[in-house]
Amino acid sequence: MIDIICGGQAGDEGKGKIASYLSYTGDYAYSVRIGGPNAGHTVVLNGVKYALKNIPSGFVNPKTKVVLGAGAYTKTEWLLEEMKKTGVEDRLIIDPNVVLIDERQTKAEKEDPHFMQNIGSVGTGLGQAIKERIERRDIKFAKDEPLLAPYVKDVYEVLNKATSKGEKVLIEGTQGMKLSLLHGEYPFVTTRDSTASTFLGEAGVGPKYVNDVFLIFKPYVSRVGPGPLENEITDEKELERYRTKGHEVGTVSKRLRRIGRFEMEMAKRAVMINSATKIAITHIDLFEGNDAGTIKTVNDFSPEAKAFLKKMKELETVYPNPKVALISNGPDVLDMVGNAD
Ligand code: GTP
Ligand code: MG
Repeated sequence: MIDIICGGQAGDEGKGKIASYLSYTGDYAYSVRIGGPNAGHTVVLNGVKYALKNIPSGFVNPKTKVVLGAGAYTKTEWLLEEMKKTGVEDRLIIDPNVVLIDERQTKAEKEDPHFMQNIGSVGTGLGQAIKERIERRDIKFAKDEPLLAPYVKDVYEVLNKATSKGEKVLIEGTQGMKLSLLHGEYPFVTTRDSTASTFLGEAGVGPKYVNDVFLIFKPYVSRVGPGPLENEITDEKELERYRTKGHEVGTVSKRLRRIGRFEMEMAKRAVMINSATKIAITHIDLFEGNDAGTIKTVNDFSPEAKAFLKKMKELETVYPNPKVALISNGPDVLDMVGNAD
């Protein structure tokens, strides 16, 4: 059985937080990451913060093997560094077709004003590497790097065997609905589609064994780069709260994220395109008085938070009728207020 985690907005919805919670409290045999190091997932475990470019957030469960699918891009040095930090050397699997970004590609991207200014790239070299892969240039893969040899294994085989035995797999998507190359707000999008079906393909499994598709939302929308943002908040005093309490500073880019009000129509679109079955809401603590520690059940939420959750029920009416299942009220893995029903 496979569960997939997808972003319902413009990325940074807290997919890392939800993935780590599901993994920590669940029994996934494998936690898979795809996509590139331009989208950092943040995991906070017992007060220790991990900003992860590549290692799946599911690493928090020592019984879960961590996997990079063929649709993943990384830099060898970043990967080695993160492996050490997270202590996953003995449970890491890397697909031979994972692309290794090199310095030349990073430099080319950073020097390209179209990438950097028009699109708002974070300049890791990922965009350049994907471009070269599409052009069938001579690029470097994980199978070409001796340092990674101990971890290289066909991921499609590992995952298909696991699902055939009834083991559970978690696929962690990156970015979000608004950033999808196919369905997002072109040209202010990333270099690939960022919805559930693509994440599966990038991992090397088909849709047959999918159980739940978790779609993640914050009560507001944040964007790192240029592009549409409905009802953007410009009041500096209000923005301060998002930047401090909401940590709305880019994990990879370190840029201050732009903030806008919740976009309902985009959210409905995301439910359909991802075939969401479960909704997870993060950052509910951005409404005053809803911090982890003070809230035990949904009944304890402030009127403002309750009103927002009520509004989110509208998403349950959109086919395939996902249920609001998880509500997160803090960055730590276990800051979570279970079921909204
Ligand atoms: P992308 O793949 O880049 O889209 O990342 P992401 O969706 O994993 O989000 P990211 O970790 O980049 O950003 C979310 C930030 O919010 C991190 O700093 C998290 O620690 C933090 N965070 C996650 N959930 C909550 C929450 O419920 N409340 C608060 N206050 N912070 C949260
Ligand atoms: Mg991020």
